[in-house]
Amino acid sequence: MTRQPSHMDDRYTTSEKYVTLRGVAADARRRLSEVDWNYLQCGTGDEVTLRANIAAFDRYLFEAPLFTGVSNPTTATAVLGQELSFPAFVAPFGGGETVFHPDGHLALGRAAQSVGIGQMVPVAAAHSLEEVAQASTAASVFQMTFVGDEGAVLAMIHRAKAAGYRWICVTYSPIRQWRERMMEDRFTNRRDQGPANFGPDTSDPAMLRELLDFTQPRWTWEQAARVIAQSPLPCMIKGVMSVRDAKNALDAGAKALYVSNYGARTIDRTPTPVDMLPLVRDAVGPDIPIILDSGIRRGSDIATALALGANAVALGRVLALGLAADGENGVRRTLELLQREFWTTLGHLGCSSPAELTRDVLVGL
Ligand SMILES: Cc1cc2nc3c(=O)[nH]c(=O)nc-3n(C[C@H](O)[C@H](O)[C@H](O)COP(=O)(O)O)c2cc1C
Repeated sequence: MTRQPSHMDDRYTTSEKYVTLRGVAADARRRLSEVDWNYLQCGTGDEVTLRANIAAFDRYLFEAPLFTGVSNPTTATAVLGQELSFPAFVAPFGGGETVFHPDGHLALGRAAQSVGIGQMVPVAAAHSLEEVAQASTAASVFQMTFVGDEGAVLAMIHRAKAAGYRWICVTYSPIRQWRERMMEDRFTNRRDQGPANFGPDTSDPAMLRELLDFTQPRWTWEQAARVIAQSPLPCMIKGVMSVRDAKNALDAGAKALYVSNYGARTIDRTPTPVDMLPLVRDAVGPDIPIILDSGIRRGSDIATALALGANAVALGRVLALGLAADGENGVRRTLELLQREFWTTLGHLGCSSPAELTRDVLVGL
């Protein structure tokens, strides 16, 4: 689905509730309690990396050329075998997303479908992977942590395939995160928002215990490679933040890479994904699909990520704000505003499609 409004430029005439993403964020801030706001926005440690993820995008400046003849660029592209109206996926954020809106990933998926982008669904979602898959056609990637029994992990991959997912996003979760805002708030997920994929009516309650029990041994690359080799769905590996791990991931059988520091929610004082991206792209060559997230807040950030080598971005907190502001409508409007600003950026950079975004559009690269 490559839907694109014939003319995207209704900036000053729209009757929509939100004219900019600032309006969406302000509404979300008003609606969320302090505790839930902190859950969404927090990072780890001193939040050095949280700030750096945003600031990194400000360091890449565009070179806007004159007289390129481009008037109405297309924002559409195909990534991971999926036609997208612009190069973006809903990021797999879970473990309490229904504090933002009770419909959680159901609303995210419906909004993603109406705008024409993809959705990554987390294993820790408050709705089961089947419910989310049935809610829209956007749900194409299922994120799961490789932990515990290999057979149980493979069984869950088969379950995701049966539900219609086309990719597995593999994550690694070595140990608890040091999130001081949540510690000070004594944040706990309410039971009714717990991950639905591990309920008593599923076969996997043991997996949740292992996911959260950090005394359990974590997996090695050999184990990951063994399961990827048997997986009925292609796997991408999330959290690739070095050339070494890009190579490890490809050696283990990954068919795509997901450059991310999880929005600075795992460990502080790591580099930013946007700075690591060109190194990873140079190391793996042009043909491996790369998804990037962490710090995408506006349409021009998407252009920067693509210019530095990503095929698409994933959208985390920016969509959680839309969800908190106005549920499915808030997410849909957020996506429209991101797409339109991306369209504007393409036009100013003289690019008639996302494929024309290369390092040449960035000053000094
Ligand atoms: C509230 C919240 C919950 C998250 N839960 C998960 C999760 O269950 N699995 C996962 O792979 N990533 C999770 N993430 C990370 C996101 O998928 C994504 O990598 C991150 O939000 C990107 O950074 P950004 O929000 O600053 O753009 C979560 C992020 C947030 C904000």
